[in-house]
Parts: sequence; structure tokens; C-alpha cells
Amino acid sequence: MTKLEQIYEGKAKKVFRTDDPARFIVEYKDDATAFNGLKKGTIAGKGAINNQMTNRLMALLEKQGVPTHFVEELSERETVVKKVEIVPLEVIIRNISAGHFAQNYGVEEGVVFDEPTIEFSYKNDDLGDPLINSYHARALKLATREEIDTIVRLAFQVNKVLQEFFLTIGIKLVDFKLEFGRLSDGTIVLADEISPDTCRLWDKETNEKLDKDRFRRDLGNVEGAYQEVMGRLLGKQP
Ligand code: TMP
Repeated sequence: MTKLEQIYEGKAKKVFRTDDPARFIVEYKDDATAFNGLKKGTIAGKGAINNQMTNRLMALLEKQGVPTHFVEELSERETVVKKVEIVPLEVIIRNISAGHFAQNYGVEEGVVFDEPTIEFSYKNDDLGDPLINSYHARALKLATREEIDTIVRLAFQVNKVLQEFFLTIGIKLVDFKLEFGRLSDGTIVLADEISPDTCRLWDKETNEKLDKDRFRRDLGNVEGAYQEVMGRLLGKQP
């Protein structure tokens, strides 16, 4: 497969066209941003870690019946994925209170929910990714009712698989963000990435934060946290 011109550059990844019209190549960067791009930095080695972690988790999810865009890892930082049209929704699942949930609803971090929550943000940087509900998503024609039903079902299935897997490597899956895409035939598949950039991951014993909150909140040892998660993941092949 030949990598052709870049068609998109996001905050953490670049996307390239290939000679196969049904395939893209994504390339992960070390760039990190927070607060809708207000805070900028670099996390050395992040691109390679997020690429390989995402691919291992996507392969695990495929095995458990979740359709994904993953095709093949090309190199440390590059992966072949199915060409999708991204549904402009950030789908957030939470198991434990943290981040905006704790902030918006005035609860402390670390409250374990009886059942997971789901919420959507409209993926639109100019608007600051505002929180919306499924009726808003349909009014904005971001997705159909059937697509939203599929996305909700798949997101909770992803949560089950990942929560169980992370526990086997001593990590609590606090919350995470997913994005979905449409294949050319309309099939909804999991896309984007699953990494410490997009998940809150706490050590099971100490609750130490092993994710991008270390960067967002200037907690130090950001690289070490990403390496720690990757090391545990490699030690236990999913
Ligand atoms: P939040 O508590 O800030 O809403 O974040 C919930 C989860 O979503 C957390 O695991 C981090 C992830 N996330 C992203 O992946 N991208 C984003 O732009 C934001 C705001 C959160």
C-alpha cells in the first residue's frame, strides 16, 4: 500500500490517502493539547504508544464482536485503517466520577457509579465541543436514530470489554471518549483511538493517574505514565 498525500491533520494525528480508495493511513504525533487547544505541549514517545495501544485494544474489541476501523499496524506510529466518514459526536462513557462530571455536577472525583453513564459532545472545535443529547444530534443531522442506537449499544459493549481487560493489568477504567465512523455502505464502526489521551486510567491499588490528566493538570511524569500503561499492556497481550 502506498501512502499518498495528507488529507487531514488533527491535534494528535495526521490522516493520509492511500492508493486503495477504501483505506487511509493514520500517523500518530507526540503533540498534546488540552482545553480545546489552549494548552499545548509534547509528550515524548506518545505517538508510538498511542498507536500501538489503540491497535491492540481495537484487535481485542474486534475479537469480542465490536466492528472497528483497524486494519494493520504499519510501523511504530502508522496504521492502516478503513476509510470512514467520522460521525461528529464524541461519545463519553463514565464508570467513576472525574473531570467534567465532577466539575459540572459538584461531586468529588472517585465516586463509583452503580451503572455506567453515556453522554455526547458535538465534535466542533469552534463551538468548544458542547454537550448535546441524542435529540439534538438528530436535529443537527449528525446521525440517524438507528445510528445513535448502534453507537450507544457498541459504546457500552466497548466499556465492558475494556473495563474487564484493564482490570487484568491493575487499572481502573474511569472514563473514556470514543468516536465512530461510517463505512461506504453505511455500517457504523469504532474509529479514532483508545489511549491515555482519550481514557482516564487509574492504578487499581493507589488510584495514581496514568493518563493525560497528568499533562492537563501539570502533575508531572507524563511520559512515565504513558510508558507504565504500555508496559503493563505489553506484559499481558490482549
Ligand atoms: P471530561 O471529563 O473532560 O469530559 O472527559 C471525559 C473523557 O473523555 C476523559 O477520559 C478524557 C476524554 N476526552 C477526550 O478524549 N477528548 C476531549 O476533548 C475531552 C474533553 C475529553
